[in-house]
Amino acid sequence: PGDPLVDTHGRVHRDLRISLTDRCSLRCTYCMPEQGNEWLAKTSILTLDEIVQIARVAAADGITTFRLTGGEPLLRTDIVEVVGRLAALRGPDGRPVQIAMTTNGIRLPELLPALVDAGLDRLNISLDTLRPDRFRALTRRDRLDDVLDGIAAAAASGLRPLKLNAVAMRDVNDDELVDLVEFAIAHDAEMRFIEQMPLDAGHTWDRTRMVTQEEILGALSRRWTLTAMPGRGGAPAARWLLDGGPHAVGVIASVTAPFCGDCDRLRLTADGQLRNCLFSTTEYDLLPILRAPAGGDDRQIDGMLRSCVCGKLPGHAINDPAFLQPARGMNAIGG
Ligand code: GTP
Ligand code: 5AD
Ligand code: SF4
Repeated sequence: PGDPLVDTHGRVHRDLRISLTDRCSLRCTYCMPEQGNEWLAKTSILTLDEIVQIARVAAADGITTFRLTGGEPLLRTDIVEVVGRLAALRGPDGRPVQIAMTTNGIRLPELLPALVDAGLDRLNISLDTLRPDRFRALTRRDRLDDVLDGIAAAAASGLRPLKLNAVAMRDVNDDELVDLVEFAIAHDAEMRFIEQMPLDAGHTWDRTRMVTQEEILGALSRRWTLTAMPGRGGAPAARWLLDGGPHAVGVIASVTAPFCGDCDRLRLTADGQLRNCLFSTTEYDLLPILRAPAGGDDRQIDGMLRSCVCGKLPGHAINDPAFLQPARGMNAIGG
């Protein structure tokens, strides 16, 4: 316990993405089926204390950033307490941890002040389109105005950098990329475009329909001169300055330009399974440890974190003809 989480390929793990629920207030086509999924059983969802116990061990092992995801993390009724308890954790060097969240934004206007007080550091908000009719078709809910109110609340808060995420989709929003960047700039946010990954519930992902990084950059370069920015570290997004700056745009090209060699992430699902990759087919079950009659044992949690890291493959196999989609959908992995 206490040693850094280094895998067999030398990657040091510093980032734990914690999915707080598999439920969501939207039904984006690339993530969930229209009727929703069969939800995780309530009894298998990690409690606040269980999440904090795992995170405390992870922080002692050198995890410095906790990113809260879902489903939609703001649907957790104890979300403010989750942020507050995690923000109080310290690394082995006594340094505070960073708390980030990826959200659809819908509950931000009511919750953001309390989240900031509790110690939230950074926000990424999903926004695939600015057009109400497209938003309705894509998310199967008529809530674009609520999302825009959430983004306005985030922009008004001091939290920076503020990032907006759009999955680029052919014939859905690929004619809106410039508009989205301009919207982001107007909100002092950074727009990021994401290549769609094979994680949709319907297993309908099709490489030939995917909008690639190359196409995204092509569309943007008709409007701006793009200059590649160095120093990406382990971040999924490669970034380009627009007309020399100060504004920039990011592209997350998991399919055509995988960044697995620098991956520093682990994932924890809402039902207590550790995953070493978005695409892993193995999960490491923490529930039996946490719910043992004698109470959860930190050393066993640490051992599970190390097994999970040890089992990590050098990269995903999306581009392998024999690729199989993981059994869980995106909403139950957390993105
Ligand atoms: P930052 O730390 O702010 O850069 O956040 P992020 O980009 O890591 O997180 P976010 O939740 O905003 O995710 C944006 C997109 O990146 C989503 O499509 C995620 O599924 C994808 N993503 C995040 N981490 C990974 C990863 O480790 N591997 C792959 N392939 N995709 C990832
Ligand atoms: N491919 C790429 N990104 C996805 N997201 C959800 N499903 C997919 C997918 N199949 C994105 C969401 C959100 C982030 C957490 O993951 O748009 O911004
Ligand atoms: Fe990490 Fe897996 Fe994403 Fe590659 S695909 S960057 S290994 S989580």
